[in-house]
Amino acid sequence: MKTKFKNPRAKHDFQGRPCSITGVGSYVPEKILTNAQLEKLVDTSDEWITTRTGIKERRIAAATEFTSDLAAKAARRAMEMAGITAEQIDLIIVASITPDMPFPNTACLVQQKIGARRVPAFDIEAACSGFLYALEVGQNFIASRNFETVLVIGAEKLSAITNWTDRNTCVLFGDGAGAAILQSRADSHGLLATVLGADGNKAELLSMPGGGSRCPASAQSVADGLHFLRMDGKETFKNAVQAMCSAANEVLTRCEIDITRIKCVIPHQANRRIIDAVGERLGATPEQLFVNLHKYGNTSAASVAIALDEAVRSGKVQRGDLILIVAFGAGLTWGAAVIEW
Ligand code: ACO
Repeated sequence: MKTKFKNPRAKHDFQGRPCSITGVGSYVPEKILTNAQLEKLVDTSDEWITTRTGIKERRIAAATEFTSDLAAKAARRAMEMAGITAEQIDLIIVASITPDMPFPNTACLVQQKIGARRVPAFDIEAACSGFLYALEVGQNFIASRNFETVLVIGAEKLSAITNWTDRNTCVLFGDGAGAAILQSRADSHGLLATVLGADGNKAELLSMPGGGSRCPASAQSVADGLHFLRMDGKETFKNAVQAMCSAANEVLTRCEIDITRIKCVIPHQANRRIIDAVGERLGATPEQLFVNLHKYGNTSAASVAIALDEAVRSGKVQRGDLILIVAFGAGLTWGAAVIEW
């Protein structure tokens, strides 16, 4: 179905040219870690994890497989779908909270791995909202005609910052990457509108305190477990539902559509109960909600990118369909976007 949809960016933002997603791709590591296997690591049960989170298994990268490797594999699949070569890419943006190292950035490492030209490459750190932040930044470079082809990636090796003795967090996360190629296409409006937000007052809810300028790595920081992800699950849960609903409603309002126009809602895959609460409050039907959390757990910046790729490749969305992506993460950060596929 082709929508007779006026691009709200032209109305609300600036007269930029439309930005389409011409290819998507994802990659998850081969190794599967099931709930049953986690039962042997910490005091937990498949029943607790399934009922409290909806997660059944997650993927774990090999010791020799880094975030840039996952990112490069997802990127190659997106390039293949878009029908482009690495030489055509003008800009690379990687969203991640688990870069290969503090610097150089992971986008530069991806540039080298996929054989791209000496084009600009930088990282964005907005936790689970990172892919939406990166999409918005990338779309602005297309809209402003600075670049013709932008590679946007959400990639994480969360297993590297997971405390495998903490049952409160280790059951939740997984590794993976998702990528998108942004270009301008005459026959598609592409990214119709994006809403982004953040609240630094709640930074303490989700963090990895060690390894930065406040608490550089030391024997003490390692002993204190400061290089692991920490989370106040209950408060994060409440904030996630509230922020995702309000961002989603705002972006729908900006597009002057209601939820019934959306073919597929792609929420951040953190917890099935969060997804269901968001879906219910938005008035989305179960058929509209895309869920792959049971297979991968929470892959942070990769989460909605992997889900978008699976939604497209499974035929759940067709060209012309409207997609609502909504995410929430540490920062706090959140975002929502409406895409005409
Ligand atoms: N197995 C068994 N018991 C557990 C486990 C486990 N794996 N983990 C915690 N528990 C126990 C706790 O110790 C606690 O026990 P206590 O009451 O005796 O102290 C109890 O279960 C807590 O249970 P609930 O209150 O039911 O926990 P809740 O419903 O809040 O679920 C969860 C916890 C799954 C973490 C949930 O709060 C959540 O999903 N939060 C949001 C996560 C999120 O959205 N993250 C997004 C951003 S991530 C990012 O940015 C990187």
